[in-house]
Amino acid sequence: MDLTIDEGDSVAIVGASGSGKTTLLGLLAGLDLPSRGAITLAGQRLDALDEEARAALRAREVGFVFQSFHLLPSLTAEENVALPLELAGREDPARVREVLQAVGLEPRRRHYPRQLSGGEQQRVALARAFVGRPRILFADEPTGNLDQATGQHVSELLFEMNRGNRTTLVLVTHDLELARRCRHVYRLDGGRLHAFAAGPRA
Ligand SMILES: Nc1ncnc2c1ncn2[C@@H]1O[C@H](COP(=O)(O)OP(=O)(O)OP(=O)(O)O)[C@@H](O)[C@H]1O
Ligand SMILES: [Mg+2]
Repeated sequence: MDLTIDEGDSVAIVGASGSGKTTLLGLLAGLDLPSRGAITLAGQRLDALDEEARAALRAREVGFVFQSFHLLPSLTAEENVALPLELAGREDPARVREVLQAVGLEPRRRHYPRQLSGGEQQRVALARAFVGRPRILFADEPTGNLDQATGQHVSELLFEMNRGNRTTLVLVTHDLELARRCRHVYRLDGGRLHAFAAGPRA
C-alpha cells in the first residue's frame, strides 16, 4: 500500500476483523517495523532509527490508544494518565486533572484499572494518549466499548483536538458514523487500502 497522511488530517481505517487494521496502526506509529517498505513519521524514516530513537520520537509526537487499552494495573487512573508526561520529564498535575475531567473520570481518578469498567478504562487510555498534546493521535477502536452518549462525547474530544490543535487523527473503527466524520476513509481489504469516501464532514 501507498498512503500519505497530511499534518492536521483526519483518517479513518475500516475493514473486517483480522484484515490488519491494528497491525497497520502499529506500523504507522513506529511500534512495529515492516519486513519490507518504508514508513516516514513526522519527517523521520522509521527504519533508519534504532529502537531507542523510535521510542523517543513516539514519546514526543505520538499518542496511541490501544484496542485493549494497555493500562498499567499497578497504577491508578490518574497515575496512568500522568505517565507519558513523567517519562518526558514534564510533570503537569493540572493538565492530568483537566484531561481526566474531559473524559468524565475525575471522580474515579484514584481507582485502579481492575476497579474500572471497560468503557472507563478506554477513557483512561484516551486521556493518557492526549495528555501530552501529541502531534499525531492513533486510536484503535476508541469508542468500541462506550455507550452512544459517551462515545459521542469521546468523538467530540477527538475532533476538537483535530480542529483546535491541528492534531493529526488516525482512527481504526467499526463505527461508520465516526469514520464519516474523518476527512478520509479507507477500507483495508486483502492487504490493500481502498478509498471509501472523502470530504470533510466533521
Ligand atoms: N503477533 C502476531 N503474530 C501472528 N499473527 C498476528 C499477530 N498479530 C496479529 N496477527 C494476525 O494478523 C492478522 C491481522 O490482525 P489485526 O489485529 O491487525 O486485525 P484487525 O483488522 O485489527 O482485527 P480486529 O478488527 O479484530 O481488531 C490476523 O489474521 C491476526 O490473527
Ligand atoms: Mg484490531
